[in-house]
Amino acid sequence: MGVISRYRDRLPVTAATPELTLGEGSTPLIRSRAIGASLGVDLWFKFEGMNPSGSFKDRGMVVAVAKAVEDGATGVVCASTGNTAASASAYAARAGLVAVVLCPAGAIAAAKQAQSRAVGARFLEVRGSFDDALRSCQQLADRGEFALVNSLNPYRIEGQKTAAFELTEELGHAPHVLALPYGGGGNTKAYAKGFTEDGAATRIVSAQSEQRATTLASAIRIAEPAHEHEVEALVEGGRVEVTSVSDEDITRMWLELATREGIFCEPSSAAGLAGLRQVELETGSTVVCVLTGHGLKDTAAVANLTAEPCVVDPDVDSILAGIHGAPVGVGA
Ligand code: F0G
Repeated sequence: MGVISRYRDRLPVTAATPELTLGEGSTPLIRSRAIGASLGVDLWFKFEGMNPSGSFKDRGMVVAVAKAVEDGATGVVCASTGNTAASASAYAARAGLVAVVLCPAGAIAAAKQAQSRAVGARFLEVRGSFDDALRSCQQLADRGEFALVNSLNPYRIEGQKTAAFELTEELGHAPHVLALPYGGGGNTKAYAKGFTEDGAATRIVSAQSEQRATTLASAIRIAEPAHEHEVEALVEGGRVEVTSVSDEDITRMWLELATREGIFCEPSSAAGLAGLRQVELETGSTVVCVLTGHGLKDTAAVANLTAEPCVVDPDVDSILAGIHGAPVGVGA
């Protein structure tokens, strides 16, 4: 069951809203086997990379696109560092709408571009940053032909808040702490809304990159967060703590998630875990780390952050030498 059917009574949908779905939501909640013990908490990973287009965006996009259909739009438009593009393109194709996506030229992971193009989106590379693309996209939407489906669209936030409901249902209680990456701030706002509607006091740790405009975590390469003021208000209200993490912290946590937990997420998704390491946590408390995107989204990052495979001959001695790290094979 998708997000619209599962949470119909908690979403702004009507009898006229199409029951659009690609099976989003109901993502794995995985208990930590190693990292939680080192932090002294009961740590869980919500693997949002297991959504149909491989990121958390699908929860909000399904609602935004269904509402665009209900409102009579013929197309949707978004600016994106890649995941919003992949998600908007998929749901637009499903709903029979045109998707226009604007991405910073040369700055998004190849798989995300492939996802958009495969389902027939009008994929445009903008000579500029994500922030430039978002401004152009808003101007295009203002002309009326295309519905904006960035997280400035309130239906995106509505759909994404369902992740908070789902977590509380699965754990049997709301988590004490939730950690996630902070790019534009939409998802931070969505979780805060979801927990508030559930009457839960969950503390949210939102981790931004120290190197906002240049981070290796291309998904959160955003200099001017669209929801900055709302996130600041949540910080003042005591709901959210914003931490800054370096690319080194992100890389280290990404590798720990992969090698100690067996979970392969994209680099930006590890920012939340890096953020958790900077805050005080009560021993034994329930902590959820949201892993926002799948590792297969950005395989170039793997090539950059791990040892290269070694090439061996198809014989056991060569293979054993390869296993033990001796120089073997081509070029040895
Ligand atoms: N994690 C991933 C994998 C993302 O793709 C994004 C944002 C975020 C975290 C940050 O979420 O913006 O709600 O604070 N990606 C957008 C995109 C910008 O275009 O795909 P946020």
